[in-house]
Amino acid sequence: MLKSLSIIALAGALAISAGYADQNSAKVVIAVQKTGPVNGKQMYTSYCAPCHGMDGRGNGPVAPALKQKPADLTAIAKNNGGKYPSSHIATVLEYGTELPAHGTAQMPVWGPVFGRMDQQHPDQRLLRISNLSQYLRSIQTK
Ligand code: HEC
Repeated sequence: MLKSLSIIALAGALAISAGYADQNSAKVVIAVQKTGPVNGKQMYTSYCAPCHGMDGRGNGPVAPALKQKPADLTAIAKNNGGKYPSSHIATVLEYGTELPAHGTAQMPVWGPVFGRMDQQHPDQRLLRISNLSQYLRSIQTK
């Protein structure tokens, strides 16, 4: 299984990596291009689709390497009584998902990655998170 997951953002000389270790496993590196902070769909395609799939249903190319299946992101509202939980999603993106009692959460923590991406404007991570969340809201199934 996955030993460490590294998210690497490439933008000229800029290289960012974020990852975590998990005892007995191989390493997955997801290289991501730097994107514009206002284009939710472009950010989704670069940073999220490798695991969650282009359609958001959780079947991206990296998914089989993970211990935990990526969440179906088109069913977030449905699973929350029909209401899209904006603040929960913003928290997940900024700080990561809650760690399960055993094992390591396989969802990367994006806040620090986005923070390092725009070094001159660290607050742009909030813009990224907000626009990503808006994109996720737009792909909800009824
Ligand atoms: C390396 C694979 C991977 C990448 C890349 C990834 N995710 Fe995830 N994500 C997961 C996994 C696995 C889960 C389910 C397990 C968990 O909750 O920790 C998950 C869960 C989630 C959840 C559900 C959390 C909840 O509490 O309902 C959201 C929302 C989410 N991801 C959004 C994103 C977004 C947006 C991106 C891109 C910025 C992204 N993910 C990138 C693997 C990934």
